Amino acid sequence: MRFSKTAAVAGFAGLASAQTYTSCNPTTNSSCPSDTGLDKSSYSVDFTAGESSDWTLSSSSASYSSSTGAALTITESGNAPTLISNFYIFFGRVSVLMRASPGTGIVSSIVLESDDLDEVDWEWIGGVDDQVQTDYFGKGNTTAYDRGTYVNLDSGTQSDFRNYTLVWTSASTTWYLDGEVVRTLTYAEALNGKNYPQTPMQIKVGSWAGGDSSNAEGTIEWAGGETDYSDGPFTMYVKSIEIENYNPGASYTYGDMTGDYTSIVVSGSSSSDDSSSSTSTSTATKSTKTSSTKTSATTVSKATSTAKASTGGSSSESSSNGTSTSSSSSNSTTTSASSTASSSTVNVSGASSIAGQVSMWAASALLAVAVFNL
Ligand SMILES: *[C@@H]1O[C@H](CO)[C@@H](O)[C@H](O)[C@H]1NC(C)=O
Ligand SMILES: *[C@@H]1O[C@H](CO)[C@@H](O)[C@H](O)[C@H]1NC(C)=O
Ligand SMILES: *[C@@H]1O[C@H](CO)[C@@H](O)[C@H](O)[C@H]1NC(C)=O
Ligand SMILES: *[C@@H]1O[C@H](CO)[C@@H](O)[C@H](O)[C@H]1NC(C)=O
Ligand SMILES: *[C@@H]1O[C@H](CO)[C@@H](O)[C@H](O)[C@H]1NC(C)=O
Ligand SMILES: *[C@@H]1O[C@H](CO)[C@@H](O)[C@H](O)[C@H]1NC(C)=O
Repeated sequence: MRFSKTAAVAGFAGLASAQTYTSCNPTTNSSCPSDTGLDKSSYSVDFTAGESSDWTLSSSSASYSSSTGAALTITESGNAPTLISNFYIFFGRVSVLMRASPGTGIVSSIVLESDDLDEVDWEWIGGVDDQVQTDYFGKGNTTAYDRGTYVNLDSGTQSDFRNYTLVWTSASTTWYLDGEVVRTLTYAEALNGKNYPQTPMQIKVGSWAGGDSSNAEGTIEWAGGETDYSDGPFTMYVKSIEIENYNPGASYTYGDMTGDYTSIVVSGSSSSDDSSSSTSTSTATKSTKTSSTKTSATTVSKATSTAKASTGGSSSESSSNGTSTSSSSSNSTTTSASSTASSSTVNVSGASSIAGQVSMWAASALLAVAVFNL
């Protein structure tokens, strides 16, 4: 056993504030743009081969090397170098091979975050080499900072590349360290789902100075003390990231303002084999679900939508459109292979029939592909 766990910590003062931000919250604004989805079930990026256009660097700069991948460096106050995926995923697995940054007050993090501020985190405090924290938030609810846990390792996080994996489904979220489970959170445990992260997420990997003297005292304390930039530069390394998206799609749209996963509309999947690889993750708890009438009255269609992500004051943009051809994101869901939308019956087991429906509906309303992997 390479780690030990301590239970949830009360008085958790910090969160990945440099990485948490939304430009449009669909639970308070019904006209937010759709999110650009990852339209395939498997994706990986190898930063030892250089930078990737699938990721936007939020601020500062990064350098790349064939041995250590992306180097994200803090040299002065205000730096928060973060790689942000240009796409969102909707349940899935995210594995990051990385080394945390050293430095008092420096926080390294892997953040999955949605537009309505659902969040799943790994966090490292630069002054503590042999520990990683896990955390989550639902709908930006930060009223109680009691969701974090500490995982103690018997060797360092800063000198060795380690595999930090999240397997995120509608039923549970599991944190794996080098293949071993260090935490599982169930839907019910998170305030009966109310605080459970369940909406399409962007992936943000980077560091920030929790110990910057401009931060709140509690944040500085949580980060392990005030950062002395003259001790820097402080660098975290990201070698590679593997992603499985359980609901591939060109875009994700909030069908209503609940922020419930059953309200999410997946459209425009280009792949037809998408379900096969997601089912290979034996650790994930999966079920299939057909949302019934969620599709009917949503008139969220847009000629062009813009998904905006922002970190530490700078932003990145990627665009998508929600009116193009849509097809079933999954044909392996053999149960309940039909659903109703505007009293029409959608045959979700056949992509071509979906496409036919879309062309009929595209002018007036957004098509909802009602079956997705959870
Ligand atoms: C809602 O979102 C749209 C699109 O981003 C934006 O133009 C509008 O200002 C927002 N409305 C409010 C009340 O924030
Ligand atoms: C926020 O979460 C806390 C538990 O951490 C809960 O008591 C509270 O009701 C939640 N607030 C909302 C608005 O859901
Ligand atoms: C990381 O661990 C996950 C499971 O814990 C595994 O599926 C994945 O292949 C691993 N990735 C690497 C690069 O070792
Ligand atoms: C919309 O997206 C589809 C698929 O991504 C693309 O083929 C089409 O050209 C786009 N249409 C517009 C108007 O951008
Ligand atoms: C899903 O689609 C693929 C590719 O079209 C096909 O080979 C496979 O048989 C389909 N599976 C089901 C369950 O329909
Ligand atoms: C649904 O689609 C499948 C595959 O295209 C087809 O075999 C089947 O007849 C369709 N069923 C209905 C009710 O349209």
